[in-house]
Amino acid sequence: MKVAVVGAAGYVGGELLRLVLQHPDITEVVATSRSQAGRPIADVHPALAQLTEARFAGLSAGEAARGQDVVFLSLEHGESSKVAGEVFDAGPGLVVDLAADFRVRDLRLYERYYGVHAAPDLVTRFTYALADILGAELRGATALAAPGCFATAAQLALFPLKGAGVTGIPALFGVTGSSGAGVHPKPTTHHPARANNLFAYSVLQHRHDAEVLHAWRGWTETPMATARLMTHSGPFVRGIHLTLHATVPADVAGDVGARYAAAYAGRPFVHVTAGPPELTHAVGTNTALIHAAGDAATGEVQVMVVLDNLIKGAGGQAVQAMNLALGLDESAGLRLAAPFPC
Ligand SMILES: NC(=O)c1ccc[n+]([C@@H]2O[C@H](COP(=O)([O-])OP(=O)(O)OC[C@H]3O[C@@H](n4cnc5c(N)ncnc54)[C@H](OP(=O)(O)O)[C@@H]3O)[C@@H](O)[C@H]2O)c1
Repeated sequence: MKVAVVGAAGYVGGELLRLVLQHPDITEVVATSRSQAGRPIADVHPALAQLTEARFAGLSAGEAARGQDVVFLSLEHGESSKVAGEVFDAGPGLVVDLAADFRVRDLRLYERYYGVHAAPDLVTRFTYALADILGAELRGATALAAPGCFATAAQLALFPLKGAGVTGIPALFGVTGSSGAGVHPKPTTHHPARANNLFAYSVLQHRHDAEVLHAWRGWTETPMATARLMTHSGPFVRGIHLTLHATVPADVAGDVGARYAAAYAGRPFVHVTAGPPELTHAVGTNTALIHAAGDAATGEVQVMVVLDNLIKGAGGQAVQAMNLALGLDESAGLRLAAPFPC
């Protein structure tokens, strides 16, 4: 298969390159960048030196998409909307967008968090690609919108509570590493501001609320159901640790571990753990580790999820969704063990 990664100089693009360059079904890879065009990929992503001697191409997204089986767009938010039309016109077999542009079909919900959509007519062409939950349902899709990193953790925590009789607003307390903010330095990602620090951001208005609400309302069949992300920046580079707190009927809480085990039985990239999972056990992998505990006396449930924001939360999930859409082995190119300690 021939693949293009558009926006390959960023963090998600680099992770995608690492995965597609080692994927058993991919034979050719084109990587584009505006700022790095002509430079060796390994100059920008030194860890890829063992995998490629190629250079970044300065092609437009449409040019890069021509003749490709799969095109990944790993661009800053809003950029995909500008180029999606020319990408579709180029006729690739599959388009996978990793930005938020095409994740939310409900345009009113989208606009509340992101503003007016720049390409509303293209939204319905995309399938929301929550790979671990949708699995084989992605088969045959021709355009995929890969979920956000926090949104992936939140939805993996919430999904098994579908039909569980949750009362109140589920609270989703998450902490992310600095790579979640992308390759361009910002005051909140500068090492002295981040290294020994912890702070909340996007309070009551994190953008990933939109896709989490979209899913939760569908799963509960309750149009005004709500769930709340509480997002924090943590003193590490990679990964997300998220804890869900919710209230359910006492009998559901008492059996919640079995409920999560059943929900993810047979899914290759969600492992239900016997105790609270640790971040570094998931970092470097496409696997989400999840643990659910319930108190039958109070009906309280706590669910902990850890994942790698750049793999499970971005490039890995996108490749997994590609595998599913094209009918390949779901795990192809993704059997990654975590380096530990890291
Ligand atoms: N970081 C995460 O943990 C994470 C997780 C899930 C999803 N995402 C989403 O994935 C997308 C990429 O995130 P990121 O963290 O990799 O951002 P990033 O590090 O800022 O990289 C984005 C890259 O896009 C390139 N670019 C922008 N417009 C382009 C164009 N028209 N043609 C070619 N290259 C273009 C930029 O490079 P040039 O300046 O060289 O063009 C930049 O390197 C974002 O939408 C983000 O929200 C990120």
